[in-house]
Amino acid sequence: MKILGIETSCDETAAAVVNDSRNILSNVVRSQLEEHAPYGGIVPEVAARSHISTLDYIITKSMTEAKVKYSELDAIAATAGPGLIGGVIVGVMTAKAIAAARNIPFLAVNHLEGHALTARLTDNISFPYLLLLVSGGHTQLLIVENVNHYRRLGTTIDDAIGEAFDKTAKMLGLGYPGGPAVEIEARKGKPDRFSLPRPLKGREGCNFSFSGLKTAVRVTIEKLPAGALKTRDIEDICAEFQAAVADVVIDRVSNSIYEFKRRCPEGNTIVVAGGVAANSSIRSALSGVAELEGLKFVAPPNNLCTDNAAMIAWAGLERLKLGLTDGLDFAPRPRWPLDPEAAAAAFAGVKA
Ligand code: KG4
Ligand code: ZN
Repeated sequence: MKILGIETSCDETAAAVVNDSRNILSNVVRSQLEEHAPYGGIVPEVAARSHISTLDYIITKSMTEAKVKYSELDAIAATAGPGLIGGVIVGVMTAKAIAAARNIPFLAVNHLEGHALTARLTDNISFPYLLLLVSGGHTQLLIVENVNHYRRLGTTIDDAIGEAFDKTAKMLGLGYPGGPAVEIEARKGKPDRFSLPRPLKGREGCNFSFSGLKTAVRVTIEKLPAGALKTRDIEDICAEFQAAVADVVIDRVSNSIYEFKRRCPEGNTIVVAGGVAANSSIRSALSGVAELEGLKFVAPPNNLCTDNAAMIAWAGLERLKLGLTDGLDFAPRPRWPLDPEAAAAAFAGVKA
């Protein structure tokens, strides 16, 4: 079986072809970074227009590199949410058009399910497993019970973890995206010169909070003598910021492992996914906790942790095998929680 996947939910225009032997036949990703850089963050309108003008070329490139003809495709999958709705609509409409023209099934894939199932494509792991999903838009701890079956243990109550990296970088004049820049500066700095908080550390549950940490970075910068920040200040603030984030991640993940073992005694793996999973200090913190708790630690390669279409094609394939295809009337969604129960509870004012 071969399937084409399309990803347009944020600032990457991507297409990939994957088969059911877990081979990635092509994986084309075009980043819009340069188009958004002048604004210091992603502009939804700019993103949507850029997807429109490049997606057909990216799909053609992906099909050519995979050496696959449209007549050989068994289905087509596209991210149908959550994400910036303009971009999501571009990907979904394109996928529906191809599905209608070729008379093949269409699969509306939840972007988060794409991240969640990547470790099955790369490492063939079995259900259930614990997932830490850390990206620019999401910070979640989930039990992946099966395709389409997720139980959310924790989420952020304010900013996403990648957002905290990006905002810190912006305050320090490091540009966008901030995560990689903060990591590079942190390597040169000393973490204990400044003191930043570890929000929710030591507290019950598996939720995260990063907005206080972001504010503390701002206050720390403001307390420095007036004038330009010195290189050493930037390095030391980044080092302390990254140490604070890693401490919080370890604390929250430890709580979630306890919960995971209680609910799924047969589970033996923890997986990290999303753009922030590229951070080596967070990866090593996680592999340390996993070892301590006797769990296997799986981190897909960086290019499959950040946004890509191979993960969408793979999630589509997993759904196709279970007959979970979608109609051409499927509406793109800006919000789409993986665990509707947790989302409903959160809306009712109950802690998710
Ligand atoms: O998964 P992703 O590519 O896109 C979203 O779905 O958000 O994640 C992008 C996020 C950005 O916030 C970026 O700053 C962060 O991942 N990121 C990192 C690193 N590389 C990317 N954060 C920390 N350290 C990194 N090395
Ligand atoms: Zn993502």
